[in-house]
Amino acid sequence: MAINLKGRSFLTLKDYSPFEIRYLLDLSRDYKQLKRAGVFPQRLKNKSIALIFEKPSTRTRCAFTVACYDEGAHSEYLGKNDIQMGKKESIPDTARVLGRMFDGIQFRGFDQKVVEGLAKWSGVPVWNGLTDEDHPTQALADLLTIEENLGAVKGKKLVYVGDGRNNVSNALLTACMKMGMHYTIAAPESLFPDRSLGDWASKVARETGAILEIEKDPFKAVKNADAIYTDVWVSMGEEDKPGIRERVESLRPYQVNGKLMAATGKNHTLFLHCLPAHHTDGVHDMEVTEDVFESSNSKVFDEAENRLHTIKAVMVATLT
Ligand code: CP
Ligand code: NVA
Repeated sequence: MAINLKGRSFLTLKDYSPFEIRYLLDLSRDYKQLKRAGVFPQRLKNKSIALIFEKPSTRTRCAFTVACYDEGAHSEYLGKNDIQMGKKESIPDTARVLGRMFDGIQFRGFDQKVVEGLAKWSGVPVWNGLTDEDHPTQALADLLTIEENLGAVKGKKLVYVGDGRNNVSNALLTACMKMGMHYTIAAPESLFPDRSLGDWASKVARETGAILEIEKDPFKAVKNADAIYTDVWVSMGEEDKPGIRERVESLRPYQVNGKLMAATGKNHTLFLHCLPAHHTDGVHDMEVTEDVFESSNSKVFDEAENRLHTIKAVMVATLT
């Protein structure tokens, strides 16, 4: 099947078919090999890319910047205090200005509606580099990491332990449903995903054979897991929200530690984390213990590297 993604935005994996996701994963693998071989096809030569960041970033910012450099494009970092958007200028006006000058726009920020507005008004591809709701480029890198380590993703069981309604879990849920995987969330009930996402998942799962499970008991959830994933308990922008202390307390039983890894009953279970992570020695308990984070099952730096290859694939596929 011929796949042509030219001109498309990448706001959420919900907008992409399993074939299109497959195509992006294959292209990412190709770009990874080419970079290893020192080959840079320069498919983005003479293109200019805007990188809007309302929140901080290490991986996403660096992945977009290096991918642009590798493929011959110019990237321009636009931090939240550098541009007029949201203060003196509306989203549609900023989008129309950037669309006249740039070939593509990356947005990281709070509201999914902003990234949708940029896509609607700019006339160029817009890529979601994380919102409160979604983190699709992360999930693509995670699929690649699972596939590299365990083979085909279809039917694999990924268990996400922790804040089950955050952007990363939402993106993984979407990715797993599209690719026919078994996605289990282990979280306290107060942090279960939004019901509308569950409804969407049931529809997609009927077509792809995926399974979605939501479970309160982390030990029951991880049984037979091929990969265990966690993320921070407090996401960017939530630090001062009411009830955060109580949330962290409710998540303590969901720490990924040696006992939880052993409860999978499998030796090869991968440990994954989007990073940045709080990995602790047990004194200040957070989402993952030092021993799990540093174990040979941990593929967190493969994931981080794969952000580069997958983001490069997304840019090339949607721009050329
Ligand atoms: N995983 C991820 O998005 O990392 P950054 O916040 O550093 O971009
Ligand atoms: N859930 C985290 C992901 C960071 C990459 C956050 O939004 O801060």
